[in-house]
Amino acid sequence: MKNILITGGAGFIGSHVVRRFVNIHPEYNIINLDVLTYAGNLANLKDIEDKPNYTFIKADICDFDTVCQVFGQHAIDGVIHLAAESHVDRSISNPFSFARTNIMGTLSLLQAARQYWADDMNGKMFYHISTDEVYGDLPLSGGYFTEETTYRPHSPYSASKAGSDHFVRAFHTTYGLPIIISNCSNNYGPCQFPEKLIPLFINNICQNKPLPVYGRGENVRDWLYVEDHAAAIDLIFRQGKVGSTYNIGGNNERSNIELVKLLIQIVDRLLGRPEGSSEHLITYVTDRPGHDLRYAIDSSKLRDELGWQATHSFEEGIEKTIRWYLNNPDWMAHVTSGEYLNYYNKQYPGS
Ligand code: NAD
Ligand code: TYD
Repeated sequence: MKNILITGGAGFIGSHVVRRFVNIHPEYNIINLDVLTYAGNLANLKDIEDKPNYTFIKADICDFDTVCQVFGQHAIDGVIHLAAESHVDRSISNPFSFARTNIMGTLSLLQAARQYWADDMNGKMFYHISTDEVYGDLPLSGGYFTEETTYRPHSPYSASKAGSDHFVRAFHTTYGLPIIISNCSNNYGPCQFPEKLIPLFINNICQNKPLPVYGRGENVRDWLYVEDHAAAIDLIFRQGKVGSTYNIGGNNERSNIELVKLLIQIVDRLLGRPEGSSEHLITYVTDRPGHDLRYAIDSSKLRDELGWQATHSFEEGIEKTIRWYLNNPDWMAHVTSGEYLNYYNKQYPGS
């Protein structure tokens, strides 16, 4: 039995990773450490909370003493680190919390792992989950981010993730800590906090609220279904080469306006409205400062070395996602009202 610490497991991607590991890897004890910020929601994990190989700990990754205690008490063998401040717009209005959580929090975990594993690093793994946004952006005319692309972060969010990636590599070079980093493109799927484009717009279409498209909607993102990301993380954690970086992408580029029109078409159909009738909700608003134009990932290394490929086409993934939000109005209502924060903070006071 191996004891695996997953940080940020109550968030969007983290909850899919925790569920996958708990369900398909009974050989692992999964310890989910999450401080439950606005983005952490234990309702995402209701179906697995009573499983014998699952433990939840409410704690802040920046609290070094507590992180050390968790390593000691749970004899941690591996870390999959997802906890982060993750939303670009929030990073523009409050960059401090991004530097604190994403850089100092990662450093606190690295230092604890280094100390706890000092006598024997064999079989240990510190796997850091990062973003393609560290590479900056690409022209609309073409090109892809590879693992060799120079870091050129533009937003406070991507700058803080780049900082954390550098610390992770420095701990490998300087102290020999066994690490892996993966840099993934934009994820979508169930349980994503409705500040990100896809869940926000699905909810707004349902509620007949304006759809604020930044600039002219020409920016391009490469979309990956969250369960395909979780499967890649599982594979990389178990079979990835120590010291390596892997890019993960959906090979699925859409301009924002194209995507918004597709969301409208599907939501209208599923709600029994004439398809496209919600297009009047599209509202072009002032562009995001420093808005990255295009992201596109070359994930051939992951495919060639480890045999990973996405299993959901965009059409399947997006329809499945929209149906999930339409079928879970309570989840959305709790999240948008903030009710879930009161509920879980009462259950897990402190921190
Ligand atoms: P999220 O915002 O949905 O969840 C983040 C989780 O981290 C929440 O549960 C939150 O409570 C927790 N957290 C925040 N600060 C913490 C702290 N100080 N201590 C402990 N827990 C804390 O994020 P997400 O979209 O699921 O992203 C997860 C990871 O994947 C992040 O590292 C992000 O940079 C990376 N990533 C995200 C995407 C994407 O499209 N969402 C793409 C590539 C990489
Ligand atoms: P987002 O989901 O915030 O992810 P990221 O900024 O990490 O790529 O945004 C996806 C794209 O959608 C991005 O180009 C910004 C754009 N966007 C809007 O046009 N309007 C919105 O309200 C939001 C949240 C995003």
